[in-house]
Amino acid sequence: MKKVLVIEAHLSKTFSVSEYATKLFLEKYKKLNPNDEIVELNLNEEKKLETILNIKNFDYFWNEESQRYIDLINSSDKIIISTGMINFTISPLLKNFLDNILQANKTFKYKYDGKGTSVGLVDSNKKVQLIMAQGSYKDWYKFSAFDDYLKEVLHFIGLKNIELLLFDGTKTNEQKDLSVEEKFKLKEKEFNELVIKF
Ligand SMILES: Cc1cc2nc3c(=O)[nH]c(=O)nc-3n(C[C@H](O)[C@H](O)[C@H](O)COP(=O)(O)O)c2cc1C
Repeated sequence: MKKVLVIEAHLSKTFSVSEYATKLFLEKYKKLNPNDEIVELNLNEEKKLETILNIKNFDYFWNEESQRYIDLINSSDKIIISTGMINFTISPLLKNFLDNILQANKTFKYKYDGKGTSVGLVDSNKKVQLIMAQGSYKDWYKFSAFDDYLKEVLHFIGLKNIELLLFDGTKTNEQKDLSVEEKFKLKEKEFNELVIKF
């Protein structure tokens, strides 16, 4: 029996494509893997994430709740992370979650003896599925720190086995009048392949 952690960070009040795709992903995954345990962590419900790191809380920001997030990651065999793009990056909730778990000697070891010499401490055998959505198309804003950024931060803490399902262009002229179901269907083939692989 595998343990699957689902980290959800949507900020769209309606028509969240990544939320919808994550729901369907879980439904299909549960049918394929009925004995697996699913643990859902909706970041919108997390009191700890209502406060961001700042100079006033710096001395006590990383607390037992931060450790709970690290424990959840370490105790899971597979992780699904779901977010929309907010101001060219991941949801601020997810950024705050990363600020909580990125702790030296817990999730990574920093070695200042050269570029790329840090060591991720999270077990690299875990599978990660990213389910992400952005209003623009992927290549529109080269500076945006979104899917590549998230992948690289996860690499940094040791997670290497990462797949991405990206719904891009959700707010463009081509897609703005489509329902969330229709936007989902644009990537359904890829979705089906990824859920079987996960
Ligand atoms: C506050 C806010 C900021 C956003 N910023 C961007 C942005 O910088 N670039 C972009 O392409 N889309 C942006 N969007 C559009 C969302 O990325 C788009 O609606 C996406 O589908 C959201 O994901 P979801 O549908 O899974 O919730 C923004 C949306 C909101 C609500």
